[in-house]
Amino acid sequence: MEKTKKILIHSVVGIAAFTFASWGLFAQEKQAKPWEVPAEYKNMANPVPKTDESIKAGQGLYVKYCASCHGKTGLGDGVKARMLKDYAGDFSGAYYQNQTDGEHFYKTKFGRNEMPKYEGKLSDENIWHMVNYMRTFKK
Ligand code: HEC
Repeated sequence: MEKTKKILIHSVVGIAAFTFASWGLFAQEKQAKPWEVPAEYKNMANPVPKTDESIKAGQGLYVKYCASCHGKTGLGDGVKARMLKDYAGDFSGAYYQNQTDGEHFYKTKFGRNEMPKYEGKLSDENIWHMVNYMRTFKK
């Protein structure tokens, strides 16, 4: 094989590999990282019924504390989202909605990395109101 042909084939293969690799990285970025929730929280019953009052209270708190990152409709497109290293999630999607109320409660209360913890800032009752409100984002 001529040398130039060889070089050409190598670069095509190289570019293809690079494209796949970066696509992989991009896809990974749009996927929330696994987050283990202890069983006692995962299976915890939500003590606050999903009434209109609770959902309304949750909405007020959500807009105040969470929408800057998670976006008004929970798509992870708040004004601060661009500055985050981690994907904040899509609250309308299956990954989020298939979790239990207890998992949402735990993640909100204790946080992780760029997700602030609200323990001590918001009462458990208020966190449950937000958990109830965030169910309304379901597509
Ligand atoms: C400073 C930005 C920021 C704010 C403010 C914020 N979050 Fe988050 N949140 C994140 C990020 C980033 C993640 C992803 C964390 C990770 O995967 O380690 C996250 C993850 C979550 C998750 C887990 C999502 C999933 O898909 O499992 C829940 C639930 C959550 N946030 C609820 C809230 C609630 C409720 C509030 C307001 C009380 C709030 N967040 C405020 C940045 C934020």
